[in-house]
Amino acid sequence: MKLLVVGGGGREHAIIRSLKKNPSVTEIFALPGNGGIAQDATCVPIGATDIEKIAAFAVENHIDYAVVAPDDPLVLGCVDALEEKGIPCFGPRANAAIIEGSKVFAKNLMKKYGIPTARYEVFDRLADALRYLDTAPIPTVIKADGLALGKGVIIASTREEAKAAVRDMMEGHVFGASGDHVVIEEFLTGPEVSVLAFTDGQTVKPMVSSMDHKRAGDNDTGLNTGGMGTVAPNPYYTPEVANRCMEEIFLPTIAAMNAENRTFKGCLYFGLMITTDGPKVIEYNCRFGDPETQVVLPLLESDLLTVMRSTTNGTLAETEVKFADKHACCVITASSGYPTSYKKGFEITFTPEALAHTYIAGAKEENGKLVTSGGRVTGTTAVADCLEDAIREAYRLSDGVRFEGAYRRSDIGKRALQALK
Ligand code: AMP
Ligand code: GLY
Repeated sequence: MKLLVVGGGGREHAIIRSLKKNPSVTEIFALPGNGGIAQDATCVPIGATDIEKIAAFAVENHIDYAVVAPDDPLVLGCVDALEEKGIPCFGPRANAAIIEGSKVFAKNLMKKYGIPTARYEVFDRLADALRYLDTAPIPTVIKADGLALGKGVIIASTREEAKAAVRDMMEGHVFGASGDHVVIEEFLTGPEVSVLAFTDGQTVKPMVSSMDHKRAGDNDTGLNTGGMGTVAPNPYYTPEVANRCMEEIFLPTIAAMNAENRTFKGCLYFGLMITTDGPKVIEYNCRFGDPETQVVLPLLESDLLTVMRSTTNGTLAETEVKFADKHACCVITASSGYPTSYKKGFEITFTPEALAHTYIAGAKEENGKLVTSGGRVTGTTAVADCLEDAIREAYRLSDGVRFEGAYRRSDIGKRALQALK
C-alpha cells in the first residue's frame, strides 16, 4: 500500500514510524515532512494547507490511504478534497473538524447536549465583553474563537488583564479573524488529562491517557508552548474517571456530532480537567495531539494502519485497539528562546541510540546536514515498565540530541510521579 501523511512535525514522525510497522506498506509520502522525517518517508515539498496540490498528488501517485494529521488542513477540508478524488482518508471532514476550528461551536455543542465544561459567555462586540468583565468572576479565561496555534487562550488573574486580552483580540486582532468572537469562561482547577480516541462515528475507543507539559519552564512556569513533554498513562485518569468520561463526555460528544449531521471520524482529542465536580472538557481537538502522540503510539500494540482504516470503514467496533501495560515519557528538545524568539540553522547531531528513539519536528536538511528550523526541534521517547524508568531513560537518551542552544525542561513526568506515590 502507498500511504500519504499530511504534516511535518514530531507527531507526523511518530505516526509514520507506527504506520511503517505494517508489512503491506510499500511507500509513505510525507507532505511536506521535514529533514528528519526523510529517514522514514519520502518528503514532498507541498505545504500541509495546499489542499488542491495534496489532492492532485494523491491521485497522480495512486495513494491507497491518506492520513491528515494537523488541525489547519482538517479545518480547511483536506479530507473532503481527498475523498472527492476517491482517496480514503483518516481524519474528520471540515464540517466535523469545526469542533476544534471554532471554540464557540464547541462550547455551544457542549451546552446543547449537556456535556460538562466550564460555564461561558460568547461575545461578538468589544463593548459587551468589557461590560461583562466589570463583574465577571476573576480569574477568568479568554479564548479566541478560531485556530490560533495554541496561543489563543489567556488566563487573566485581574480584571485589567482580562480587558487587555479582549482588546488585543477584538480590537488589536492579534489572532486575526480568530478574535472576532471571543469566549469568556469560568476558570477551572484540577489536574489536566489528554485523551485521544479513535472513532468511526459510532464506536469510540480511547487510547492510553497522557499528560502534557504546556509551560516552557520547570514547575509549570513561563509561557504556554505547544507542549514540552508528555507521559503516558496519566495517573489522574483512574478507571473511575475513565468510566465517567466515557458515559458523560466521549459517547455524548459522538452522539451530539451525529445529531448535528457532523459525524466525526478519525482521532478526537479530549483535553480534560478533573475537577472536584468531575471531569470537564477544556478543549476538543480534531486530531492527534503533539507531543501526546509521541508517547501514545509507542505504547500501541495493535496495528495503527488497521485501526485507522477501521475508523474510515466504520468497523472500529470489531477492531482491536490494544495498548501495552507500560509507561512512556517524551522529552522535547527546543531552541532556546522558544516560544518567543529563537535562532535557527544550528546543526543537530545524535548518538545512534538517541536517533532511534527521537521524533524530529523543527529540523530541515541543508547541505547534507540536519539543522534546526523551528522552536520544538525533537521529541525523545522511552518506554519502560515503570514511569520512573521511562523518565530516566528519556532524559538519558535526549542527552544524545545536541545542537547550539538546545533547551529541555528538566521535570517532565515529575508531577505524574508524585501523583503515583
Ligand atoms: P487550550 O489551548 O484550550 O488547551 O488551553 C490552554 C491551557 O489553558 C489548557 O491546557 C489549560 O491549562 C488552560 N485552560 C484553558 N481553559 C481553562 C479553564 N476554563 N480553566 C482553567 N484553565 C484553563
Ligand atoms: N499538546 C496539545 C495539542 O496538541 O494541542
